[in-house]
Amino acid sequence: MDEHALSIAAHPRLIDPASLNDAPHARLAELREEAPLVQLGPNHYLVLRAEHVVPLFTDPRTRQIEGPEFVALHQIPDGTLARFLSDLFLFSNGAAHRAKRNLFARSFAHRIMREARGQIRAVADGIVASLPRGVSFDFVDSMAARVPAEMIAVILGLPACDAKCFAERVYSLARAFAPIYPHEHHQEIENAAGELYDYVEEQLCLRVAAPKDDLLTALVSDWHSDRSIPFESLVFQVIGVIIGGSDTTRAAFAMLVALLLQRPDDWAALRSDPTLIPGAVNEGMRYDPSVGSIPRVTTAPIRFDGIDLPPGAVLRLSTMSAMRDPALFDEPDRFDIRRNDHPRLHMVFGIGPHRCVGDMLARIEMEESLAAILEAAPEIALETLPEMLGFGGLRQITPMQVRIPQSQP
Ligand code: HEM
Repeated sequence: MDEHALSIAAHPRLIDPASLNDAPHARLAELREEAPLVQLGPNHYLVLRAEHVVPLFTDPRTRQIEGPEFVALHQIPDGTLARFLSDLFLFSNGAAHRAKRNLFARSFAHRIMREARGQIRAVADGIVASLPRGVSFDFVDSMAARVPAEMIAVILGLPACDAKCFAERVYSLARAFAPIYPHEHHQEIENAAGELYDYVEEQLCLRVAAPKDDLLTALVSDWHSDRSIPFESLVFQVIGVIIGGSDTTRAAFAMLVALLLQRPDDWAALRSDPTLIPGAVNEGMRYDPSVGSIPRVTTAPIRFDGIDLPPGAVLRLSTMSAMRDPALFDEPDRFDIRRNDHPRLHMVFGIGPHRCVGDMLARIEMEESLAAILEAAPEIALETLPEMLGFGGLRQITPMQVRIPQSQP
């Protein structure tokens, strides 16, 4: 990227985002070879190459997209969803971002999460023990969804029995984070936003009347003594954490298990050597990630290999493309649980001040869930392959039928 280059700037190619829906990895690879970025719509660009994606996360000429910009870009109608997206700390910058992120940062600190590893394993063991034997079932719903939903409920202090119910609303609301807003599903997404709002608001109000020893009580009592943000904003931030903590890990874990079950040698290696598990988790999140792109906005002109972008352009940093870029990974289309060229910071969680608050939680949930299956249901067999849909934002996973033989304990 050289903003001082003298050559005449070219225009990025405008593509129909729908054309990326079929075989998105292959399509992204073709586009990445052709040019550093493509245009998705007015003022909206997909950045494809690792050499640009990685530095742009923290480039001083970019910042996080602001909630109201996100709402305007996607022409999201007024309502609870639009207010939620406008207020979310994910979509804010500077002091406003720090103040809201700090409400949660301590509770999700890496040390606290590492200490919770045993508890996470106990949740995963319990779920694996409850899985049906001898019949076919959907792994996404019955296992992959449950560990993250139950753990986020434990951490916040929500009743465990509510996890399934709020998770369904969360999956609907998560659709709002696609790079192209699915207007045809707007009513469903808006309803989910309203229902989650009512649910979280009620839970916070219950803590005022009857405090408990949990994060929601701490949040509401801090809010009472400080009130630097409106109560509505507190509710929105909790919803943001519930979404971050559920959908992404569910899809990532299901895809990881599907990739491994298609590779019996890897599965056998993991059974005999559990030290390979963290590498397998890293590789699953690289190979077919549950978050495919991360938004940023330019604050100054930027030139990409002869293409100029003005300030105010919305960039989608395609981590999905960058993590298959041969400039960064050796044989990037090979799934390799022993890969030793992962950068120290996995870019699927973002880089910089917005780096995922739950990166360690997600990692431990996946590691312990995988260990629990390898130990208690190693003969699990894949009957239908899931697909990770979409080329950016939060991607959606399709169902995945599996069967555990009757003979397994
Ligand atoms: C595989 C699982 C996950 C993936 C791939 C993922 C990915 C991401 C990404 C890409 C970002 C934005 C980074 C940026 O803009 O630079 C993010 C932010 C965030 N994530 Fe996650 N995440 C995962 C799991 C979780 C979990 C378990 C939680 C639970 C707490 C969580 C909570 C959040 C929150 C609250 C933010 C906003 C952070 C901020 O803006 O400061 N995520 N995540």
